[in-house]
Amino acid sequence: MISVIVAVAENGTIGDKNALLWHITEDMKHFRSRTTGHPVVMGRKTYDSLGRPLPNRTNVVITRQELTIEGCEVVHSLEEALALFTEEEEVFIIGGAQIYAEAMRVADRFYLTVVEHPYEGDARFPAWNPEEWQLIESERFERGADYPYPFRFETYERK
Ligand SMILES: NC(=O)c1ccc[n+]([C@@H]2O[C@H](COP(=O)([O-])OP(=O)(O)OC[C@H]3O[C@@H](n4cnc5c(N)ncnc54)[C@H](OP(=O)(O)O)[C@@H]3O)[C@@H](O)[C@H]2O)c1
Repeated sequence: MISVIVAVAENGTIGDKNALLWHITEDMKHFRSRTTGHPVVMGRKTYDSLGRPLPNRTNVVITRQELTIEGCEVVHSLEEALALFTEEEEVFIIGGAQIYAEAMRVADRFYLTVVEHPYEGDARFPAWNPEEWQLIESERFERGADYPYPFRFETYERK
């Protein structure tokens, strides 16, 4: 199974200058609890912004370059990344913008955190068609323990 997981500001922004624009402890926990124990697949720029492999997960980095990255599998396409795992395995696509654009076409499940505040940035989540997706879970918070704006976790499955 292929899952996309992302946090998107209400205006579509997901990052700026290869970094995230917010720090929401609850969202970091949500990301960690969903992805731990499962493979995570990311574009090379997202890997650079993390700076290290995520622990307790098989990390796969997609690049057009010939690279060796310690602690990561390096592949040259999303297809090559997905071919590393069986269909029963939940494989998480964790960004960034370029990789999400490809992955939303093939994903079965979509974990979306909506950050209910506008942010200016140079990376945007691609347009997606809500009619193709069924909302199966939703939880909203007025604010975080250390974050002042509302946000919500939504889980969708492809119809
Ligand atoms: N809010 C969130 O949930 C979230 C999550 C993840 C990332 N982000 C943000 O997203 C931004 C990064 O996104 P991005 O779009 O700039 O970069 P990205 O998707 O992380 O990585 C792009 C790189 O992936 C490789 N790539 C892309 N398509 C490929 C293909 N078809 N075949 C082979 N390699 C391919 C290329 O690497 P090479 O150049 O090495 O060839 C390309 O430069 C950052 O601001 C980050 O903070 C936000």
